[in-house]
Amino acid sequence: MPAAPGISLPAPGKYASPDLPVNSRYPVNTTPNSARPSLSTVEVSIPGHPYPVVIGPGARRRFVSYLAPFHLNRTVWITDRNVAGLWGDEIRSLSGTAAPDLVVLPAGEEQKRLATVEDLCRRFVQLGVERHDTLVACGGGVIGDVVGFAAACYLRGVNFVQLPTTLLAMVDSSVGGKTGVDLPEGKNLVGAFHQPRFVLADPDFLATLPERELRSGLAEVIKTALISGPKLFTELRSFVKRHPDLQGPDLAGLIESCVDFKAGVVEKDEREGGLRRILNFGHTVGHALECLGQYRTLKHGEAVLWGLSAALDLSVRRAGLDPRLETDIQAFLAPFLTAIPPLEFDSGEVLDLLARDKKVRRKVVQFVLLRGVGLPVVTPLADPQILIAALDHLRDRMRAGAAPEGEDREIRD
Ligand SMILES: NC(=O)c1ccc[n+]([C@@H]2O[C@H](COP(=O)([O-])OP(=O)(O)OC[C@H]3O[C@@H](n4cnc5c(N)ncnc54)[C@H](O)[C@@H]3O)[C@@H](O)[C@H]2O)c1
Ligand SMILES: [Zn+2]
Repeated sequence: MPAAPGISLPAPGKYASPDLPVNSRYPVNTTPNSARPSLSTVEVSIPGHPYPVVIGPGARRRFVSYLAPFHLNRTVWITDRNVAGLWGDEIRSLSGTAAPDLVVLPAGEEQKRLATVEDLCRRFVQLGVERHDTLVACGGGVIGDVVGFAAACYLRGVNFVQLPTTLLAMVDSSVGGKTGVDLPEGKNLVGAFHQPRFVLADPDFLATLPERELRSGLAEVIKTALISGPKLFTELRSFVKRHPDLQGPDLAGLIESCVDFKAGVVEKDEREGGLRRILNFGHTVGHALECLGQYRTLKHGEAVLWGLSAALDLSVRRAGLDPRLETDIQAFLAPFLTAIPPLEFDSGEVLDLLARDKKVRRKVVQFVLLRGVGLPVVTPLADPQILIAALDHLRDRMRAGAAPEGEDREIRD
């Protein structure tokens, strides 16, 4: 059978060692296990599918020991070309075998589609993957979402574990069991809930992550902080002030806070019947912008950052958010927004896309808005005029380069 298009199985030893920058802003932890500070673990107590998220430098090295208690059979690793190029040898070492089954996908959001799932499943058949085998998603949110969805479908469900390698995947997508792919008509329109058996979130991987991707991941941290409350928002602002390059040993603490908050939400509402909807803060407009840019112009987190900005504007108009607080939060967002490539859009086009959003109920878009930091409310917005006004305002701010009038672009504390 010919190889499924776009998917390759590398020969052992094909990839070089991780090409870590010599002056890496985030030192890769080479300390032996025994001498390392302890890792933290957040338990995600979903009824019937509880699992640990292990967080901290070196967490990846716990792979074999976390696998053992589950008596999971064989593992098949799936990653993308960028991660394989940088971390291929590490993957081989972590897997505990010299020649792991490793499937390498091209990188990028364009891979998050049904065709990739078919290709992957065909590859699993060729590899003889059985029901009790385990898929290992080692990569960013795209790999996690696609592999998780393939794991939910292949043989009607196989085990999978997550080794997130981007900030976004560590703080958000690897936890909670949402898996899926995009359609040309919209984002994440086909998917399944399928929980991983465990997650190892190791910030050492971030040493090789481009700064643009780090900033994109920070969008989900900002989202989480705004819906969770002043404690995390203060922790975030202080982190950004101390580490404008978003790297630092205390990043692990920030990741833990985000995972902890998300775990608390998904434990109460695994299938997004109610509470879990708050995690979509910034994502309604965000997904529409991401789709308008054909998943290429804007990265997911970048679209979410603009979506957060629009949701804050709507929160003042419709949820009673104090305008002074909004100005303050927009000023915090501004330096991140200015770094994002501009996207020209027509507000009517965005409205059309919003109508296809999964959060639409009886043709009315359900927005997550904020009454204050840590006070999210799900609000139906039936009046297109309010949406048009907020979208026009957003477009003007994008054109003007993001910073609110009269605000400096420094990050303020
Ligand atoms: N399932 C969920 O709950 C959930 C939540 C949030 C976001 N998401 C999804 O996550 C996706 C975005 O995830 P992402 O931002 O991680 O994108 P991504 O997976 O495309 O990764 C971003 C880029 O970084 C590269 N990369 C990954 N790890 C690297 C490393 N350690 N060093 C160098 N390069 C590395 C990748 O090859 C890719 O080019 C979107 O599709 C979004 O919808 C899902
Ligand atoms: Zn997101």
